[in-house]
Amino acid sequence: MHGTQIRPARADDDERIRRFLAGLSLHTQTMRFFTGIPRPTASLVRALLAVDERRDALVATLDGEIIGHAMSYRGNTADVEVAVVVTDRWQGRGLGPRLVDTVLFRAAVRGATTVGMDVLGENRRALRMVRRLWPDATMKVTSGTVEVTAMIQQAMVFAEQGSAASPLTV
Ligand SMILES: CC(C)(COP(=O)(O)OP(=O)(O)OC[C@H]1O[C@@H](n2cnc3c(N)ncnc32)[C@H](O)[C@@H]1OP(=O)(O)O)[C@@H](O)C(=O)NCCC(=O)NCCS
Repeated sequence: MHGTQIRPARADDDERIRRFLAGLSLHTQTMRFFTGIPRPTASLVRALLAVDERRDALVATLDGEIIGHAMSYRGNTADVEVAVVVTDRWQGRGLGPRLVDTVLFRAAVRGATTVGMDVLGENRRALRMVRRLWPDATMKVTSGTVEVTAMIQQAMVFAEQGSAASPLTV
């Protein structure tokens, strides 16, 4: 994926993230946000860009435009919860797992050892990604969603095996 860059989100990404969200298909919006988002609110945009002691956010860019996003925040059942979305045209090229690995690497540096992710039960693609990233993850099914919990160490091993760009280079 020549030319793609993964970097921390910034407050001045406001317009870019709005364009990214507007460009997502209804299906992709629903898989990520569990609902369509025809008019993203200012608070959603702020939440997607927030980087502070409790939250982290990364964007993947190509030619300056956002094509993917990942975030982590303090979780209830795991140290950090992560969520990720890649724009439709760029799905299926390994960018999602790269974003997840990078956001987890940054969380692990800050001491997180377990990761959680909420996935809609029908989201086969995300569930396949989860199984590849964390083969030993626990999956708890609750009313339509799958609550995934895994050890972060396994994700780091995955990255080191060369199946994703090394987070250290990002
Ligand atoms: C789930 C999601 C983040 C995965 O990201 P992605 O970049 O599409 O992930 P991958 O590219 O690794 O995986 C998708 C497929 O492409 C394949 N693939 C990966 N790299 C590839 C490459 N270089 N060439 C061809 N195919 C490739 C994978 O084998 C995988 O196949 P599968 O779906 O049949 O198992 C992305 O599809 C997405 O944004 N979905 C909507 C939002 C969502 O579901 N978020 C998760 C809940 S928070």
